[in-house]
Amino acid sequence: MLCRGGVIACSTRSRRNKGVHQSMAQARGSPMSEFGAQSGGARAIEMVDVNKWFGEFHVLKDINLNVARGERIVICGPSGSGKSTLIRCINRLEAHQSGRIVVDGHELTDDLRQIDAIRSEVGMVFQSFNLFPHLSVLDNLCLAPQWVRKVPRAEAKRLAMEYLDRVRIPEQADKFPGQLSGGQQQRVAIARALCMNPKIMLFDEPTSALDPEMVKEVLDVMIELADQGMTMLCVTHEMGFAKAVSDRVIFMDEGEIIEAAAPSEFFTAPRSPRTKEFLAQILAH
Ligand SMILES: Nc1ncnc2c1ncn2[C@@H]1O[C@H](COP(=O)(O)OP(=O)(O)OP(=O)(O)O)[C@@H](O)[C@H]1O
Ligand SMILES: [Mg+2]
Repeated sequence: MLCRGGVIACSTRSRRNKGVHQSMAQARGSPMSEFGAQSGGARAIEMVDVNKWFGEFHVLKDINLNVARGERIVICGPSGSGKSTLIRCINRLEAHQSGRIVVDGHELTDDLRQIDAIRSEVGMVFQSFNLFPHLSVLDNLCLAPQWVRKVPRAEAKRLAMEYLDRVRIPEQADKFPGQLSGGQQQRVAIARALCMNPKIMLFDEPTSALDPEMVKEVLDVMIELADQGMTMLCVTHEMGFAKAVSDRVIFMDEGEIIEAAAPSEFFTAPRSPRTKEFLAQILAH
């Protein structure tokens, strides 16, 4: 179902992008690092007995999840099961109330320096793109490198064009988001996240607001990222993507991780009746 055509282009792109990473790494004052080949421990993310409540509502229940560097994880489950909340806790868009979350060696606490450190390592792409409508595509991409990383304007523009090229829409640089298709806007959102040279990418249903013909162009970009070794957590119901790309599929229900398994096992021999029921529903469509 999925075209992996982008992968062929990936090796040349990857080589070309070393320049981009080098520039960003220099801007961060650290040696160049490829996606997934970062220094430090083997774990990108560690969640230990994480619990979260919205008021009285227990939304995340004893979440234990370790994500290795370079690992690709797909999270699925019924609406309201806590998928978005789980990934939003990883970059502190939501605060957890108990347990530990450690991202790239930084523990998430109320310490703003730790939160900043983590947010600078983690890129996030939302269902609804969240681009600034009054800024051109190029300016959307330049904003964070210029103002957060203090990259000079000319260099930020060069990086932005590299990444727009990578998501295959360099010709859209001067347009405003409202002038682009949904698939193009989502690719801008991915490029914008990549401009910060993240070590980890979180995706929350990146294709679910798109018309069917635009889904593939966004998934192809994500497949390319995965093939380059990016650590990825992706909430999606695109089971073709999960089968083709993920190392592990996680099924959540009612705030709990019910099952986590390699896709070969997850799709052919799900253990929990809840997983079986979910798969029967989702694969029927
Ligand atoms: N800010 C909030 N305040 C109160 N309750 C919330 C808040 N955000 C989410 N919830 C509730 O927490 C539960 C989990 O929400 P979450 O968005 O994580 O689910 P989800 O699995 O991502 O669902 P969907 O597939 O519909 O996106 C839902 O019952 C939701 O109503
Ligand atoms: Mg959600």
